[in-house]
Amino acid sequence: MKRFRVAVLGGGRSSEHEVSLASAASVRAGLEQSGHVSIAIDVGRDGVWRRNGAVVAVEPGHGLDGVDVVFPVLHGPFGEDGTVQGLLECLDVPYVGAGVLASALCMDKVMFKELMAHAGLPQVRYRAVRAEAFASEPDRTLAELRALGLPVFVKPARLGSSVGIVRAATEAELPAALETAFEHDPLAIVEAAAGGLEVECSVLGGSDPIASEPGEIVLAKGESGWYDYEAKYSPGGMRLIVPARVPDQVRDRVREIAISAFLGTGCHGLARVDFFIDGEQVLLNELNTMPGFTSTSVYAALFEASGIRYAELLDRLVQLALERHAAERHLRH
Ligand SMILES: Nc1ncnc2c1ncn2[C@@H]1O[C@H](COP(=O)(O)OP(=O)(O)O)[C@@H](O)[C@H]1O
Ligand SMILES: [Mg+2]
Repeated sequence: MKRFRVAVLGGGRSSEHEVSLASAASVRAGLEQSGHVSIAIDVGRDGVWRRNGAVVAVEPGHGLDGVDVVFPVLHGPFGEDGTVQGLLECLDVPYVGAGVLASALCMDKVMFKELMAHAGLPQVRYRAVRAEAFASEPDRTLAELRALGLPVFVKPARLGSSVGIVRAATEAELPAALETAFEHDPLAIVEAAAGGLEVECSVLGGSDPIASEPGEIVLAKGESGWYDYEAKYSPGGMRLIVPARVPDQVRDRVREIAISAFLGTGCHGLARVDFFIDGEQVLLNELNTMPGFTSTSVYAALFEASGIRYAELLDRLVQLALERHAAERHLRH
């Protein structure tokens, strides 16, 4: 087996900085275990890239510091949204995960939902709201949102880790919920609330990807009742049950929709696709192109339960990145 030098980008400018550092440390350990050489590149909250404390200089067209592959283990804005992927394309270095368009598309909950609706995939009802439109015509906006019923979830369109999301149970709570979303993004999405279970499914591959066994998220009692920041990151806030306790046909449908969403958005390498399941009804919620990636994170745990261990997962992702880069070399521009 060939040993590759893999630069692991961790940290980043988003509020998921710490989460990313934990994922990146785990990815580096896993890469070493699978026989590769890992190189840590820390991306500061200020956006500066450092290797062993020294600022990393980038030269377009010249790769990155002599590495074979880059693994951008960055979550949220300025990492998972196509910006870093664009820089890596300009450097002409192979990298793990979705490219520019798929990253940007999946980061934007409105664009993602529009495309998935076009592909005929089942989702909750939703409306996009722009900050300027709400500021100039608040009553009209609120009237339009009535069609969604109550409660609704109000979210910044381009964020993650449940940051800025408010569950509004009454119409009176809507203006403040929208203002909260607009603190993070001038575009908000308001969604009808789905009932039932939250189920997640991991996807791995290129043009012929595989889906893991779906897992079920069970929240600790006494919390907010939805999968908020606390539940995601406080110890014991959630429990993953694999396989999810759903009928076989629902399980198959989840895996099928996960693959359709992955291919339909043009993803590559990896993704975690999240669902709401109410009885027999399967609703696609979102697709994360760079999900939390420690060895015990949901993404890896679902593949572990499906027979693919963490180190092997990382090795396959490195191979996929190299294959994509090699294939794209043959394209004429
Ligand atoms: N339409 C909805 N119906 C029910 N619960 C929702 C809905 N939207 C979001 N939630 C709850 O909020 C959580 C975070 O929402 P999500 O869209 O996944 O944002 P993030 O990208 O921050 O993870 C979900 O895991 C779920 O618990
Ligand atoms: Mg989510």
